Amino acid sequence: MSISNISWEAQLDLTIVNSSVQEALKSKKLFRYQFKDSSSFVNILEKAISEYVGSDFALGVSSATNAIFLALKALGVDSNSKVLIPAFTFTAVPSAVIQCGAEPVLVDITESYVIDLEDLKRKILSSKAQYLLLSHMRGHLCDMDEVVKICEKSSIVLIEDAAHALGVTWKGKQAGTFGIAGIYSLQSYKIINAGEGGVLVTNNPDVFWKSVFMSGSYENNYKLHSSKNNDIAKRYKNHLPVFNVRMNNITAAIAIPQIKNIETTIHNTNKNYNKLSKYLLERKEIEFPKENLTIRSVRDSAQMRIKLNQNSLENLKSELNDINIPISYFGGLNNSNARLYQNWAFLENKNHILPNTKKNLSEVFDLRLPIHFQSKDIDIIAKSFLQVFDKVKGQKNSFS
Ligand SMILES: Cc1ncc(COP(=O)(O)O)c(C=O)c1O
Repeated sequence: MSISNISWEAQLDLTIVNSSVQEALKSKKLFRYQFKDSSSFVNILEKAISEYVGSDFALGVSSATNAIFLALKALGVDSNSKVLIPAFTFTAVPSAVIQCGAEPVLVDITESYVIDLEDLKRKILSSKAQYLLLSHMRGHLCDMDEVVKICEKSSIVLIEDAAHALGVTWKGKQAGTFGIAGIYSLQSYKIINAGEGGVLVTNNPDVFWKSVFMSGSYENNYKLHSSKNNDIAKRYKNHLPVFNVRMNNITAAIAIPQIKNIETTIHNTNKNYNKLSKYLLERKEIEFPKENLTIRSVRDSAQMRIKLNQNSLENLKSELNDINIPISYFGGLNNSNARLYQNWAFLENKNHILPNTKKNLSEVFDLRLPIHFQSKDIDIIAKSFLQVFDKVKGQKNSFS
């Protein structure tokens, strides 16, 4: 086995999902509302996720982006609203805000890849935004006690984009359960790989039932979701637009065995990350984020800061890509990475005051660690990485 044989495309573990998918197929039904006398697989997944994270309600939909959109709509975000978001996140996040007709207000990030709470306080005052859509980008958490305090003090509604943070905890509490709504992604490169999919969790019955209807629950289908707070559900029936972003039963059948197995997956994924970082830390120019004991991380990707000059960093990226290590680099010129706010040309307001975001990402490399990786894959990746690193570093004038 060599680096060229490593498969970076997320691979489904058939031994885990096979029997659940077969069972779903045997039902010959794909649509969640076809299950009138029994629970659909989507219902079962929703129950499993709400039990795992400790929320009263969960709603499965077609993607995390759509789940964010529904949560924002359910909370009244519209063309008069401003929504604070960290300036380092995936392009789908400001897009969901725009889909509501609202204005995203970008907040600086720190060296630890999380929202800068001092800038958050400044932007709350200067923008008069009413909402914070807190994206836990790449699963990194800010000080959750502090952010909740800031939001409470300023009457800011907190929604968590925990697309990458299912299983990440702060003092034992699951990311996605600190605000009024939390969102997880089941897209292939997340800790649960269902191809596509998103789950909205909340303890708020109004947010839940509004989201149920808007997700595409029409007529009496809402009764197939939950018997909790049906009086509230009835209030919204026929009063909301329907966006049809439901989850397919097969998607849920793929995800259910994975949520049951999630702690094992997290253990293996974190082991892979720890092994990779241990190898790469042998080079003093490579830095990984310091572990914060308040946080139980889930490392389905690695972010590392590399202290070489920019030329060398560009060379390092392209040489790693050439040997089949598809690493991204957030700095440099002509960078079209969808996670950089400079590339969100669809934003109307281009005058962002963000003194640190670009700088804090300028030396950062980003590598996915798909959940199917095994320890031996990490050995090969790390050794090949270090060979390329040493070669690039050895080239004249490369060390800054
Ligand atoms: C931080 C973050 N939020 C939201 C999303 C959107 O997730 P989905 O692809 O399920 O819509 C992603 C996708 O990778 C993401 O990284």
